Amino acid sequence: MSAEGNPRSGGDTSADESRVALVTGGSRGLGAAIVRALASRGLRVAFTYRERADLAEELCEELAESGGERPLALRFDQESETGEDVIAAVLKHWGRLDSLVLSAGIWSGGRIDRLDPEEWWRVVEVDLRGVYRMARAAVAALGDGPAGSITIVSSTIGIAGFPGDTAYSSAKSGLIGFGRSLAKELAGVGTRVNVIAPGFVESDATAEVSDAARERLSSRLLIDRFGRAEEIGAAAAFLSEDATYSTGTVLVCDGGFSL
Ligand SMILES: NC(=O)c1ccc[n+]([C@@H]2O[C@H](COP(=O)([O-])OP(=O)(O)OC[C@H]3O[C@@H](n4cnc5c(N)ncnc54)[C@H](OP(=O)(O)O)[C@@H]3O)[C@@H](O)[C@H]2O)c1
Repeated sequence: MSAEGNPRSGGDTSADESRVALVTGGSRGLGAAIVRALASRGLRVAFTYRERADLAEELCEELAESGGERPLALRFDQESETGEDVIAAVLKHWGRLDSLVLSAGIWSGGRIDRLDPEEWWRVVEVDLRGVYRMARAAVAALGDGPAGSITIVSSTIGIAGFPGDTAYSSAKSGLIGFGRSLAKELAGVGTRVNVIAPGFVESDATAEVSDAARERLSSRLLIDRFGRAEEIGAAAAFLSEDATYSTGTVLVCDGGFSL
């Protein structure tokens, strides 16, 4: 279909209103960095948290004090909820949704003969099925706008694999196939779908990595340090807002780990 044939393919938004983004898992870590990056571009941002209402409130205060519109923080548990209430709340608040960034996720691991099967499935439930449920809840609202985008946070572990991570890598590599298929499904309504695959990034999730393990991992990297959350925030915001000729792509931000 030509760009003229598809009025939503040009990336333009209505002139008088800034775009609205929703980031899942925005209370801390990579998600919070993505919230900051989108807000700094002038988007109005909603984000979800699960338990850390305190951090969610701090982030709202920080962004309101820096002069932007106060974010909307919404409680959401990706393990059990569909996301429909969250989407309804965003639409009620701002009347539109343009960008969805799916960052909420958990890590839990152990070698295949040691990780409890229930725990194995819980990781897949939260990290894969939970993302599917929220994306499903959002597609109609995104397709209503002029240039919707979905950015899915996968992981380099979903590409390269890692011992002890059969559950996490199953979910994260599942997200890559999910994103590519969804990009094909939603092309007709002008919604781009892209995936970002971060490597080891400083956050609560990697805070417990021992110095020895950190050194071992860093020696495998072409950029010999862990990533910073702001670097992932910038890359996710690029996919969401700037990469208007990219859909179904995977942006690997892993310091060269998966090479
Ligand atoms: N850090 C890394 O090195 C790295 C590398 C590659 C990919 N990733 C991916 O990047 C994403 C963010 O990772 P992170 O390191 O920033 O994690 P994090 O610091 O542990 O933060 C996780 C975020 O997800 C939310 N969350 C956790 N469980 C949830 C659930 N069941 N339902 C809804 N929300 C939930 C948390 O909410 P609360 O704050 O309320 O608990 C928090 O906002 C994840 O998808 C992760 O797999 C991380």
